[in-house]
Amino acid sequence: MIEPYYRDDTVTLYHGDAREVLPALSITAHLAVVDPPYGETSLDWDVWPDQWPALISEYTRSMWCFGSLRMFFDRHHEFAEGGWKMSHGVVWEKANGSGFTTDRFRGVHEQVVHWYQGPWGQIHADVPKVAYSGPNKSARGKLSQTTHTGAIGAHTYTDDGTRMMRSVLYAPAPRRKGGHPTEKPVEGLLDPLIRYGCPAGGLVLDPFAGSGATLDAARLSGRRAIGIEGREDYCEMAATRLSVMPLDFGGAA
Ligand SMILES: C[S@@+](CC[C@H](N)C(=O)[O-])C[C@H]1O[C@@H](n2cnc3c(N)ncnc32)[C@H](O)[C@@H]1O
Repeated sequence: MIEPYYRDDTVTLYHGDAREVLPALSITAHLAVVDPPYGETSLDWDVWPDQWPALISEYTRSMWCFGSLRMFFDRHHEFAEGGWKMSHGVVWEKANGSGFTTDRFRGVHEQVVHWYQGPWGQIHADVPKVAYSGPNKSARGKLSQTTHTGAIGAHTYTDDGTRMMRSVLYAPAPRRKGGHPTEKPVEGLLDPLIRYGCPAGGLVLDPFAGSGATLDAARLSGRRAIGIEGREDYCEMAATRLSVMPLDFGGAA
């Protein structure tokens, strides 16, 4: 029995190595949001935990994973060995890049890839909708037989003033003074990723929790969350953040 570092009604955070903590927890999560150490810098925490994709597959069948293109190419065999199938990816566009090289384009984006296990039909996949202000396309009668997606048949399209969210998500990185160096933004990034892959009231797992941004995003969207973080100073950062219950917290779906 491992004692949580932080716990409230919706979020539990453990301090320790995810590879040791996870097997001690008896959980099944609807979705994992994984922001692993990419293993691309000399920072002390930036060490790829070997075979973590196989470990995570024992606790969930749906996962968003942050990474660089290089990381996914270098580690693709670990995802395959873990039984993960790729569904698709989105691009996180940040306001500013963090690289110091002068021989390549300034990197202002990261990949976020969605992976799943088992039949696709059993995976929660609900694309968030965004407001749309273009021409209203209501009542466009349609009789179609598209070959690439199968027969659809006759239906009437009703324009509800929304559109499916686009796959390039612009959201400035938080960059708080004294904060986690790779903290991800809640609004515009973690929030839609969680809403896509986890039903309201469901459980989100973050095995490399850092500043607790995913845990915070999960509770703000009305999901529950379990996080694990290896460094105690980052656990403290996350606990401080989570102990402040936001004013607009309402568990909205
Ligand atoms: C890319 S950061 C996550 C940042 C986080 N998404 C946020 O928004 O703050 C990866 C984190 O994984 C932690 N970490 C690295 N190896 C770990 C392990 N084996 N178990 C648990 N945490 C680990 C690091 O300390 C680091 O805080």
